[in-house]
Amino acid sequence: MRILSKASEMEGLDPREKSDILRGKTIALLFFEPSTRTRLSFESAVQNLGGKLIGFSNSGGTSITKGESLIDTIKTIERYADIIIIRHPLMGSARLAAQVSKKPVINAGDGANQHPTQTLLDLYTIQKSFNRLERLKVGFIGDLKYSRTVHSLSTALSHFDVEQVFISPPELRLPEYIVKRISPEKVFESDSIFQWLGKLDVLYATRIQRERFVDPLEYEKVKNAYRITKGMLSDVKPTFRLMHPLPRVDELSYELDSTPYALYFDQLANGIPVREAILTILRDVKDEG
Ligand code: CP
Repeated sequence: MRILSKASEMEGLDPREKSDILRGKTIALLFFEPSTRTRLSFESAVQNLGGKLIGFSNSGGTSITKGESLIDTIKTIERYADIIIIRHPLMGSARLAAQVSKKPVINAGDGANQHPTQTLLDLYTIQKSFNRLERLKVGFIGDLKYSRTVHSLSTALSHFDVEQVFISPPELRLPEYIVKRISPEKVFESDSIFQWLGKLDVLYATRIQRERFVDPLEYEKVKNAYRITKGMLSDVKPTFRLMHPLPRVDELSYELDSTPYALYFDQLANGIPVREAILTILRDVKDEG
């Protein structure tokens, strides 16, 4: 909640009022996996705050290709940077980086595990749209097994008075260890969206995460599991909103973009003030060494 409140403050500031917040600080962006929104909104946030950027968006040009471990990469970068932002395909990689680093580490997505800064911008977006984070019914649809944005957001929403509806093919259900974090009376699971659409305040859609499937044939079976079109939204509440962390593949029809329900472009824009807020708060964390 402190970060959300700070994000609102950052959004209200004149650019000149925040342009020195990270002056003299170096922020490392270590992206071992592709990204458009997370990396570029972090880069924008650092530049808006007057910080310096180092890092890579493709580990192929680094000594990792010579066999260097993640631990040694982090122990190197912590000597060059004040804050480390990492996206990595392995679950738990960001936690490992935080354990070996004396500098703050931000998880920008660790495999199919978590994506906490996405969750903060998702919460910020819901709060801005509804003026509250309580008394809401939020549906999640798609690849709930591998989607780290869903894992993080559903965990975060379990702290609020929010009913959560999980809609997916049976093969892609939300992992049980995450379902257990939510009060049983606030969880609903379904393989059909139609009975829920008229009851939801928010539908959070995700793509089927092709890169996480071990067996390509398993992906082929579920890749077209659902597609949301404008016609399907004829009976939704007037305040209903459709969210998506993006990128999308086929699951959201482009005709939805011009409806009042589409919140996903505002959602991604909120990545900048939220990430500015995170970096501003972390600026004052002292070197634990
Ligand atoms: N939402 C999100 O993480 O998008 P990118 O993969 O483009 O960063």
